[in-house]
Amino acid sequence: MTLPLAELHLHLEGSLEPEMLFALAQRNKVAIPFASVEDVRAAYRFSNLQDFLDIYYQGANVLLAEEDFHDLTAAYMDRAAADGVTHVEVFFDPQTHTDRGVSFDTVIKGVLGGLETGKARHGISSGLILCLLRHLDEDAGLKTLKQAEPWFDRLLGIGLDSSEVGHPPSKFARAFALAGEAGLKRVAHAGEEGPPEYVWEALDILKVDRIDHGNRALEDPRLVDRLREEQMTLTVCPLSNLSLCVVKSLDNHPLQRMLKLGLRATINSDDPAYFGGYVGANIAALALTGDEKKTLARNSFLGSFLPEAEKQKRLAALDA
Ligand code: ADE
Ligand code: ZN
Repeated sequence: MTLPLAELHLHLEGSLEPEMLFALAQRNKVAIPFASVEDVRAAYRFSNLQDFLDIYYQGANVLLAEEDFHDLTAAYMDRAAADGVTHVEVFFDPQTHTDRGVSFDTVIKGVLGGLETGKARHGISSGLILCLLRHLDEDAGLKTLKQAEPWFDRLLGIGLDSSEVGHPPSKFARAFALAGEAGLKRVAHAGEEGPPEYVWEALDILKVDRIDHGNRALEDPRLVDRLREEQMTLTVCPLSNLSLCVVKSLDNHPLQRMLKLGLRATINSDDPAYFGGYVGANIAALALTGDEKKTLARNSFLGSFLPEAEKQKRLAALDA
């Protein structure tokens, strides 16, 4: 039996399956450097985060019209539903698209439409998190926030992703302060490839409500204590970690260690089209006990940004 689950770490652009990449390339007459779906899958071998990001940003070039963003998002919601997911808080990277001349409004209208389609088809509730690309400068991020301002009431939060090392959270202090003042939740990728110091910065400078990944926090016992005391949610992504060589194998993946340490870890798929599977495949890839699976499901709702009463409802449904 699959437990109801919330997915809290999913990049919509990372759910672009090779079949859809081909279909959209055709529909939009965009040239792609692949001859077949098999060709695409063969290119999905990465030795680190940057390797992957280069291909991921190239793949996003086929997304041009509102309908494309709708179809991408709706297809993810279908996959999530099949894995028992009942609530999602998804990321999108507007700068990847606005820098190619696609308007911010085109992107967000398509994505929000896709989330509504997912709600209508499967009853999945959702929230949308705008991620700033950390390899770009903060002024570019502030410009994106300005474009997003008319949509703030439709956004759940702000996030930080892309190339981690060399781009510490502190680089985005002003953008995150502004987002916080506007009432947006704050999350940031930290400790995926970057050092524990980046996790400290995300907590202390960006004032995040969740840490995305957080694997390398385990290197710092004081940081582990802090994360446990605050019951800070970590959105962990095992198949992503394996694909990007963040871990050598899944035998000794940090997720189970995090649970044993009393950390509020959750399981997620990150970029499922690129890393070999959706959240169900991530759960299946680890040798999890029944209790661990239940804790992960509980943590997913506890760590979500659902209103408190709704959270309690979902937790009660899980216990039942
Ligand atoms: N963008 C998409 N997936 C990412 C990841 N795993 N880390 C950083 N940025 C990303
Ligand atoms: Zn991610």
